Amino acid sequence: MPGTELFGDEERREVMEVLETGILFRYGHEDRRMDRWKAREMESLVCDYTGAGHALAVSSGSTAVACALAAAGIGYGDEVIVPPFTYLATIEAVLLAGGLPVFADIDDTLCLDAASVRAALTPNTKAILLVHMCGAAADMDPLLELCRDRDLVLVEDAGQALGAWYHGRSVGRFGLTGAFSFDFFKITTAGEGGVFVTDDESRYRLADSYADHGHDHVGDNRGMEEHPIVGFNYRISELHAAVGVAQMRKLERIRSAKRANKARLRDAVEDLPGLDFRRMPDPEGDSGTFLNLLLPDSESAEAAVASMRAAGVPGVNYWFTNMYHFINQWDHVKNLDAAAPLAIHSLGSPQDYRALELPGAQEVIGRLVSIGVGCSWEPENTDRIGESLRESLASVLGGGA
Ligand SMILES: Cc1ncc(COP(=O)(O)O)c(C=O)c1O
Repeated sequence: MPGTELFGDEERREVMEVLETGILFRYGHEDRRMDRWKAREMESLVCDYTGAGHALAVSSGSTAVACALAAAGIGYGDEVIVPPFTYLATIEAVLLAGGLPVFADIDDTLCLDAASVRAALTPNTKAILLVHMCGAAADMDPLLELCRDRDLVLVEDAGQALGAWYHGRSVGRFGLTGAFSFDFFKITTAGEGGVFVTDDESRYRLADSYADHGHDHVGDNRGMEEHPIVGFNYRISELHAAVGVAQMRKLERIRSAKRANKARLRDAVEDLPGLDFRRMPDPEGDSGTFLNLLLPDSESAEAAVASMRAAGVPGVNYWFTNMYHFINQWDHVKNLDAAAPLAIHSLGSPQDYRALELPGAQEVIGRLVSIGVGCSWEPENTDRIGESLRESLASVLGGGA
């Protein structure tokens, strides 16, 4: 839970600044807000950090993904390539936009594999919704080449990957639009929140209006603003943005602490026989969020998880059986169960979701155990966790504790 580990006076001060003015709304009220604009400040900090031309803070990572799709022009009937390993928000965002999710396979980068994406393309494919899983970037070069080749729109769901880079460029900045999450579990948190990014001014304008009932945000009379498009309320509150501001200022500190702790954990287990790690095309760009272990098979992964939990290793995740992150548990998506009709109900599924063959995902996620890395762990504490981790893994793999 990195961001929350460092909650302190900075977050309290930012929140108090908002409460002192009483202006919890991100727009207007210049006369009372004492020039305090937390959402704007959070956006500017995200632009500074990532290099994005434009950022829009919104209510969640999920609504940031919704903005990223809408602003990229993805909607009714568009086939969108998605991965089977992500958070459900990715798939929900496509369905609720009126799009049709098409699943392609992943590889040992834990992200979409370009060859599998290529095989899943049809004449109706409009976009790839690329998810950078578990704090590090996908293998961008082949994916970018494919997008160029086949004239596909790239949208990035970097919900889990703020602080991740690919050869000097921040994730979220490869696509036409991108999204970050600032929910409670992320590297930097606003409690709830998200940030949409793009380098394209017109896409930014679309997202800016889409996230606020179509408002064009021109002039000083909110009730008389133009509404060039139909939108909805995805606004962030100033209170959440205030926390986001304090956390953004800590991002690099959190990232380097996590990377250092992750390196210590990895050193503790690296030589164990049969143990492998998630492939990272640019290890220097890793945010350090998770130590992603690949066991020989799903049986050994499950045994390792049980042993780690019994030994008190913190932050152990086994995504293969997780209800929200892996396709095997998504019967409601496969059945198209929804509160109200979606475009996919009338247009039909682009794939038989019940008969998908995604052998890469089944293999790699079955073997994957992710350890969430803390940013406030002292070296001795990290080493103790490393010892427990080693003992647990050695009890399954052999190789000596
Ligand atoms: C990849 C990914 N996308 C989107 C989201 C949604 O973010 P939020 O929880 O802020 O709505 C998450 C949240 O975990 C995520 O992991």
